[in-house]
Amino acid sequence: MVARWLRGLGIPAFAALTLTGCAGVQSSTASAPVSVSGQVQEAVANPSLWPAAHSPVEFSDQATEAEIGRLLQTMTLEQKVGQLIQADIGSISPDDLEHYPLGSILAGGNSGPNGNERASAEQWARLVGDFRAASLRPAANGIAVPIIFGVDAVHGHNNIPGATIFPHNIGLGAARDPDLVRRIGEATAAEVAGTGIEWTFAPTLAVPQDTRWGRTYEGYSSDPQLVARYGAAMVAGLQGHLVSGRPLAPEHVAATAKHFLADGGTRNGTDQGDAAISEAELIDRHAQGYPAAIDAGALTVMASFSSWNGVKNHGNESLLTGVLKQRMGFEGFVVGDWNGHGQVPGCTPVDCPEAILAGLDMFMAPDSWKGLFDSTLASAKKGEIPLARIDDAVRRILRVKFKLDLFAGDVKRGDTSAVGAPAHLALAREAVAKSLVLLKNKGSVLPIRPGARVLVVGPAADDIAIQTGGWTVSWQGTDVTRKDFPNGQTVWEALAKAVREAGGTVVLAPGDAPAGQFDVAIVVYGETPYAEFQGDRPNVDFVAQGDKPLVLLQELKGRGIPTVSLFLSGRPLYTSPELEASDAFVAGWLPGTQGSGIADVLVAQNDGKPRRDFTGTLPFAWPADCGDGRTILFPLGFGGSYARPPSGATLDTSCVTDAGSAEGFAIFAKGLVQGVSASVSGSALPNLGGRSGEGSFTATAFDAAAQEDARELTWLAPAKLQLRWPSKAFGRASALRLRFSIDQRPAGKITISPLCDGCSPSVDLTSTFALAEGKGWREARIPLQCLDTDRLEGLEVAAVAGFRMRLQDLRIIQQDNDGNCRGPF
Ligand code: BGC
Ligand code: BGC
Repeated sequence: MVARWLRGLGIPAFAALTLTGCAGVQSSTASAPVSVSGQVQEAVANPSLWPAAHSPVEFSDQATEAEIGRLLQTMTLEQKVGQLIQADIGSISPDDLEHYPLGSILAGGNSGPNGNERASAEQWARLVGDFRAASLRPAANGIAVPIIFGVDAVHGHNNIPGATIFPHNIGLGAARDPDLVRRIGEATAAEVAGTGIEWTFAPTLAVPQDTRWGRTYEGYSSDPQLVARYGAAMVAGLQGHLVSGRPLAPEHVAATAKHFLADGGTRNGTDQGDAAISEAELIDRHAQGYPAAIDAGALTVMASFSSWNGVKNHGNESLLTGVLKQRMGFEGFVVGDWNGHGQVPGCTPVDCPEAILAGLDMFMAPDSWKGLFDSTLASAKKGEIPLARIDDAVRRILRVKFKLDLFAGDVKRGDTSAVGAPAHLALAREAVAKSLVLLKNKGSVLPIRPGARVLVVGPAADDIAIQTGGWTVSWQGTDVTRKDFPNGQTVWEALAKAVREAGGTVVLAPGDAPAGQFDVAIVVYGETPYAEFQGDRPNVDFVAQGDKPLVLLQELKGRGIPTVSLFLSGRPLYTSPELEASDAFVAGWLPGTQGSGIADVLVAQNDGKPRRDFTGTLPFAWPADCGDGRTILFPLGFGGSYARPPSGATLDTSCVTDAGSAEGFAIFAKGLVQGVSASVSGSALPNLGGRSGEGSFTATAFDAAAQEDARELTWLAPAKLQLRWPSKAFGRASALRLRFSIDQRPAGKITISPLCDGCSPSVDLTSTFALAEGKGWREARIPLQCLDTDRLEGLEVAAVAGFRMRLQDLRIIQQDNDGNCRGPF
């Protein structure tokens, strides 16, 4: 056993034998007082209560550890600090590495080679090669440490058009098939490696407890055991089995177990929020995936943006060092999340020794890398970060780089033919079929019979973006088109082919149902794409997203046409009215590009049987209420098949929510306009972004408290910004609240006025904005009374001269008014 682990010390044999500072550091940081969390007892973990685990001994070997030891003796402090920092391709070029010898480069969801989201696999491979070559140019002391390049391949190699797009994790959870997950890991790794990349930020081991969370679909299930089994399977698939003394095979890549810890346990499902739970719940519900992934050999772990009992994970030493590295014996490195270190109290994105002291090994510093390099170097020189801690972090990073064979220098990855390979597409089709869950099948309306006259309707019937969801081509995934995936099929294309092959006829009507005789209608609808906090919702009510599908279902029912609902979503939602109005109901999650997998199950072939029966079951309970979703309609694990039809019951379709009343009516919040359209002089500004046609106005996304959560609004010439929504009544005691900042006072008058029939009052905001000049973020509240109406369908902000403001939040809230309508507000 000693040969395997020196357990008492929590040190792997290969590290202990190399006589480096590593061992000493590990035990000394453990006994150091918990810096950030000192005052908050409940956020200090007691590692002895946690499950033990170990990175496999095959992770490294004595020769490698000795080689790392030699490197550590030669590297300069600058070179060591550089290893701790990762920059995004959107903010760095290969030449920068000469002066800033950074350890890693990532491509975020919105970052493509040279700003091109639609770059080819070859262009990706070239870009990665350029960064790698730059990092391999030896410095004056002869040292050259290769960069490690990471990307979010979270449902296939999803940033690359033409890649194989698998169902999002929630759909894989429905399949309950660890071997399928392992094979998907293998295929994904081959495609990532095919573009020259060696590291993916996956799998997500979140165990989402509140489906209002915008990242629910990134989790496999609310069941910790399933997440643990899948986590191990995905790591094994991505990395292959670790072999002692040998690097990963070139068609494999490093995995990332993320986000440590309890990202899925935050209050109300708020992204980047706080998991206010006991240590027992933290362990039993949220931590189960980590020992499994570590035992399976996961080379990296990503810290979570979120907090445990008020303490940010990026600064929680008891979790990062005590639990993860010591108790769970994790020998790889811990990478931070997107400027996540900047959220630790006392830190900013460009300065955060606290995170390294807590146990973070590599900062994800997409755009902040330069300032962070300088400040971290200064902290290291002052001894604020002990050299031993830096050496430990660098050792971990180099260990992973050796395991990936990056020091060999020659390019082993980059076989672009793996991207979108036919065998991978076939695997995705299998996964789609296995992810479908049958919730209702009254009168055996499914499968569609051979020779049937079929109508395919609904907003998602022929829409590849809705099928693929967030994290596809771009971060939010909203602009994916059919052209991006020539090797894909929309639901309509797949159904049409299968129905015709079985001798039937089929009509597509994405809008309203056409007249005519049909034996069955398949109504396809669901959520539109979103990622991270932009997908957070105040409740689980699907109707809140527009009642069009329900009207369609009821109309078809009225015409005596049996209906099948195919519901595509990143989470279960309250759909009792739709379920009642449908004869059959299938939860299809976010299936990706291989629509054929859906036809394989829904449509019978000439022999009367479909290619596959349903085998999927719910990875999360399905809600019976439209509020927080706590009341259960169908439990976890529910799901019927042709062999075992689901039993139907009459549902309560009355939904009562006071959705969001406490938060008011959000016009712009968390980077998103919901149900509100923005325009200037008739040019639309989708999601309050872009430039107006005549060039008088621009709106640019930027990061205030989180990624792209705010806008810089610039009036380049006199212009009127209009924000419009379906007419809505607000009580008399309401106010318009804006959070904004102004660098330079307005040069001319700024007014705000309501968009409504026959009302014209406007409120002057000039003095309010002038007063705010240079004072950072401020809040203003304008009583709605001042606009002389309590029914509003929009607002107009007019500037008569050039003007720039930053806007983080705009909403109408309940508030008693003092009658001041002249400002400043
Ligand atoms: C997400 C991570 C992701 C990273 C890099 C963050 O915003 O939380 O899941 O890996 O960005 O794109
Ligand atoms: C995402 C990145 C994305 C960025 C946008 C992050 O949260 O993970 O991949 O490009 O936000 O600012």
